[in-house]
Amino acid sequence: MKKWTIHDVKQNWVNRDKNVHKGSNGKIGIAAGSELMPGAAVLASKAAVYAGAGLTTLSTVKSVIPIAAVSVPEVTYHLRDRCLDSFIDGKNVIAAGPGLGRSDSVREMIRTFIRHDSETLIIDADGLYFLNEFKDDLKKREYPVVITPHAGEMARITNQTIDEINQNRIQTAENTAAELNTYVVLKGPETVTASPDGRTAVNTSGNQGLAKGGSGDVLTGIIAAFLGRYDDIFAGTASAVFLHGHTADYLVSGGTAVDTITPSVLIDTFQQSFNIS
Ligand code: APR
Ligand code: MG
Repeated sequence: MKKWTIHDVKQNWVNRDKNVHKGSNGKIGIAAGSELMPGAAVLASKAAVYAGAGLTTLSTVKSVIPIAAVSVPEVTYHLRDRCLDSFIDGKNVIAAGPGLGRSDSVREMIRTFIRHDSETLIIDADGLYFLNEFKDDLKKREYPVVITPHAGEMARITNQTIDEINQNRIQTAENTAAELNTYVVLKGPETVTASPDGRTAVNTSGNQGLAKGGSGDVLTGIIAAFLGRYDDIFAGTASAVFLHGHTADYLVSGGTAVDTITPSVLIDTFQQSFNIS
């Protein structure tokens, strides 16, 4: 089984051209947050900015905007109840799910993103809740889709128990990737990344300091930023997963107690730990 290490991250690294401009560094749309879950939107969009996205737009509810704008001034906004076309148009990556809630309007939004089929789509958290209704659309989609379930979310998608998933993590990720025509990031210790064309990587970084609400939202933002500039979706995703875990390892190696790692600190440390020597 292929283990994804620091060497793979370096080998697949996408260097920025000296003449690059913000538009060619990834135009990222993040659909996240709701009145009672503003933090998920902040964490995902801030992580995208800090992981190098050229332009990041957050589609969210009105009450979240003043909160997010203070934490991450680099982001622009779209009001979720308005026409989605203006949010989707011009993006090369859309990530949907963290803290969205599970309302009918969220279901319709996920359907719209899957059917739009002109950009890479990442579906996480509450976005995954509706996936079973859209499996046929996923199979038909031509642009890449990355899904990022933890074992509980995967259990719902595959109609298995969490124990069954955890006893057979690699096979489950591979089968789901092939069946749904999606890249699958099955999260947890030793996160498995599987591609629809049969590549699989087991992650080698990370620690139990990541077992906190919000860590997954940070990962979604990092993957979105990377896929804004990686042509190789599998490598970009596996490297994002590695560096998310690597940041937690970097904190511990610098003396941070594992229990005190927070998703916010992960984002703030991401840039330092990026010196991946
Ligand atoms: N070792 C290494 N990595 C871990 C560990 C561990 N023991 N525990 C968790 N992680 C990593 C996972 O691999 C993943 O990248 O932390 C991240 C956790 O992501 P999620 O499980 O999605 O948690 P999060 O999203 O932050 O939780 C908030 O969102 O997905 C929903 O149901 C979830 O309500 C919850 C909310
Ligand atoms: Mg999550």
